[in-house]
Amino acid sequence: MSTTPNTPASASREPSCKVSAGPHDAPSSPAGKRPAPPCTLVIFGAGGDLTKRLLMPALYNLAVDGLLDDGMKIIGVNHGERETSVWREDLHKSLQQFAADKASTFHAGKLDDKAWNWVAQRLEYMAGEFETDDTFAKLKQKLDQSPGGNVIFYLAVTARFFKPIVEHLGKAGLLKEGEGAGEGNTGGFRRIVIEKPFGTDLASARDLNAHILSYADESQVYRIDHFLGKDTVQSILAVRFANALFEPIWRREYIDSVQITAAETIGVEGRGKFYEQTGAFRDMLPNHLFQLLGMVAMEPPNSFDAEAVRDKKAEISDAIQPLTADDVVFGQYEKGPAGIGYREEPDVAPDSTTETYAAARVYVENWRWAGVPFYLRTGKRLAARRTEISVQLKPVPFRLFRDTPVDALTPNVLTLRIDPAHGTSFDFNVKTPGPVMQIGAVQSSFDYADFFAERANVGYETLLYDCMLGDETLFQRADSIETSWCAVDDVLHPKTGGAIPVHGYAAGSEGPAEADALLARDGHSWRPLKQDAVEKK
Ligand code: BG6
Repeated sequence: MSTTPNTPASASREPSCKVSAGPHDAPSSPAGKRPAPPCTLVIFGAGGDLTKRLLMPALYNLAVDGLLDDGMKIIGVNHGERETSVWREDLHKSLQQFAADKASTFHAGKLDDKAWNWVAQRLEYMAGEFETDDTFAKLKQKLDQSPGGNVIFYLAVTARFFKPIVEHLGKAGLLKEGEGAGEGNTGGFRRIVIEKPFGTDLASARDLNAHILSYADESQVYRIDHFLGKDTVQSILAVRFANALFEPIWRREYIDSVQITAAETIGVEGRGKFYEQTGAFRDMLPNHLFQLLGMVAMEPPNSFDAEAVRDKKAEISDAIQPLTADDVVFGQYEKGPAGIGYREEPDVAPDSTTETYAAARVYVENWRWAGVPFYLRTGKRLAARRTEISVQLKPVPFRLFRDTPVDALTPNVLTLRIDPAHGTSFDFNVKTPGPVMQIGAVQSSFDYADFFAERANVGYETLLYDCMLGDETLFQRADSIETSWCAVDDVLHPKTGGAIPVHGYAAGSEGPAEADALLARDGHSWRPLKQDAVEKK
């Protein structure tokens, strides 16, 4: 996303907002991009879903764009003996399936055999348990064959393996950077990529950070929040800072409230065991939704330099007023028009009190935002899939319309659509045609697809590429992770009042009525999930 170290701004990825001409025909190689430096990508969890569904498709897309170096290698580590050829074939089949699936964002249509073969030739499978010395000795032997080489260790594993893997890497000397410097090479980098969940609360996140940082330097740690890999999320900064229109009004004097929604229609999709431990709040709030909030609320950085951006985002997570039980509503889906209830899902306790929906009112205590409520909501099995941010402006004085038939004015709302629609819309008021002063609420929309050719993208391309380049802009720093968990700690561990009650909502509905009440007490209401545009009158 940002300019990379030693890279002039003009040579870095161009934010799509810079392309201002009309519709473009075909995807092209990203202008001015250079292949990442050679490296070995070691994937722990080679047999897992993440590798199959996201990492391989993303690597394939990067190969199609010519953004990987010929010297790249990919070592997949997993328990269980398996031939490399079998692993390759398995991955190839999955890619073919995704390519054929019209609903997937992979959008390859037909696989490019040349690109796939390029990736396939670089794949090597290595059997190994994640917690035994043997695995790391074997890995070291392999990596020692190219001393001084760059290595990325990708932890595509369940969270309980994060600590042991990092510890083994550290103890095996695999995290030492600059090894083998001299003799024509400058010594390689060693980076660790860690998936979410990064801890389950403040104490565990602190503990995990401390553990990792006792073996690696912060600059070697790439904590992923996959929402930041989405183009539409990165574009929030472009919309805010590349246009003169928004920034002057982007503050408490003009903004009434902000709604951030990540609504899903799917249920827990076989992840009952994980979800029972996690719940919607931990799964989405202090990470994905706070990241969106950070992009909306942060001050303009002086550059796209990673630390400049991350400093500004860190200020926001630090300024979030700690949430209390009064600020949140939890819900759980029950049997409804969209299917069975959560308690009937596999691996879910029949009397489970895990929330599948969470709504929160959040305040950012700084000069720009004091007093502006940010309403966040997320949930499974809701009425529509919709990830978006709606910024509602304050009402205008009504005096002028007092003696007309107009009885109320609809508020101006700017909506940034992240998924599945990609674009923006603005709700505003005009005079309806005719002799009488009547006001009609209308909507002006922009859709990415109308202006730009769609690029194959599963959301991990940028993240992997940036990690290879050493650009940490889109990754989370230890301090931000901790301040985010800190802001929700009282909800997770209430000092008084007991656990947050969980209210039922019908599968396929807009969520629990209690979430409506959370906003109603401030005189607000949620934007309906189902309704798309302002209806034509
Ligand atoms: C994941 C959560 O991090 O994000 C899932 O664990 C959730 O529960 C997913 O479904 C949502 O991501 P996206 O990109 O599909 O909106």
